[in-house]
Amino acid sequence: MYVCLCKGVTDKQIQRAVDQGARTMRDLRQEFGVGSQCGKCTCCARDVLHDAIHARKEVVHIHVPSPQGQLDVDIAYS
Ligand code: FES
Repeated sequence: MYVCLCKGVTDKQIQRAVDQGARTMRDLRQEFGVGSQCGKCTCCARDVLHDAIHARKEVVHIHVPSPQGQLDVDIAYS
């Protein structure tokens, strides 16, 4: 799906950019020019960016001993 018609940028390109480290709209603007012309794509591009970042989050489960027993903690990072 095209996200930015002015620059011909697709959701797949944004997802690949996230795989390679893009994390902000500034990153997308620098790499593709997303939002730099008419700006109508900004909200959609931000949604695609955030969805791609969220989809790549890793979760680590940690079991921590505590006086009340064992505490289970999930830590998410991207
Ligand atoms: S649609 Fe992206 S700048 Fe116009």
